[in-house]
Amino acid sequence: MDLKKFKTRNIYNEIEDGSITCKSPSNIALIKYWGKKDIQIPLNPSISFTLDNCNTTTTLTYQKKSTNDISFELFFDGNSKEEFEPKISQFFNRVIEYVPFLNSYHFKIDTTNTFPHSSGIASSASGMSALATCVVELEQKLSQEMSLNEIRRKASFLSRLGSGSACRSIEGPMVLWGKHSSIKESSDIYGIKLPIEINQVYNNYQDTILIVEKGQKLVSSSVGHELMNNHDFKTQRFIQASNRLTQIISALESGDLMGFIKIVELEALTLHAMMMSSDPYFILMRPNTLKIINKVWEFRKSTSIPVCFTLDAGANVHILYPKTFQKPIDNFIKKELLKYCQDGQFIADCVGEGVKII
Ligand code: DP6
Repeated sequence: MDLKKFKTRNIYNEIEDGSITCKSPSNIALIKYWGKKDIQIPLNPSISFTLDNCNTTTTLTYQKKSTNDISFELFFDGNSKEEFEPKISQFFNRVIEYVPFLNSYHFKIDTTNTFPHSSGIASSASGMSALATCVVELEQKLSQEMSLNEIRRKASFLSRLGSGSACRSIEGPMVLWGKHSSIKESSDIYGIKLPIEINQVYNNYQDTILIVEKGQKLVSSSVGHELMNNHDFKTQRFIQASNRLTQIISALESGDLMGFIKIVELEALTLHAMMMSSDPYFILMRPNTLKIINKVWEFRKSTSIPVCFTLDAGANVHILYPKTFQKPIDNFIKKELLKYCQDGQFIADCVGEGVKII
């Protein structure tokens, strides 16, 4: 793998201080990333919808210093957050070989999320991609050598070193991460905008996130990924994910919504089946998760409206549907599903375009 192209080349500009603000969204995987080696090298390719309303805004304030080391302070919603520092420290240590100029500055990182920290929505994808983009923007100010495409690639590459799924948040509306034989530009080390012509039925796709259970994840993604290494179904799972990727690409090109729905739901259930059959085994779905899934199936059968669900590594349910069906689905959600959400909480989201510099 040619990693040289991700290293900072020349620094032309002497910059003493300044700040950069980026806003980056979360994403929801349709083909799931579950299993990795080394530092976030995925064991199968994944595809995601980039979201729009669930995002992190990060301001990176920098001040030149004389020592040569990593130095930062972190504020979350304006308050100092020491418990988040190890993850950021790990990120800086992993990326430093690609962006060595970081050693010359002291950083203040101010970060806020649009979704509540305790909502059960993972903030690592939006948070890491926002921070990585700020770092790449600083590099661009210092060197001015990268094209827009190179900036995006490097932001995705660095995001991945923070959290795997974060590399899928740089662009939109759909991103592919992980090598797949049918797409030659695909890569294990960064995400790319899905290079196919996506049928217009997927334009403006909606994602209503039903908060079944707030609070921190019971099992961290890293522990979950680790359990795939000795999983009985490991080999078959990675072949299956690649095959499903081929199938979903064809459903995305042709507009075959029923084919799309089948793969998306199979992937969500397979992710949880992997958790339920690992050693140690665990269940992240809750009784209300299953009630919602059954209601979605009943509603789809009785109305023929192409609505489906997907799941993250948690109990919350993402309800996915084309914008044209917004009205009947809003009614369905209000009447039939909100009673299964903690405090009736949900987030109305839709596909978006990725990170923005503010
Ligand atoms: C279930 O990206 O959170 O959401 O690379 O260890 O940071 P790390 O894991 P993370 O894993 C996400 C797993 C998932 C599926 C997916 O987003 O593809």
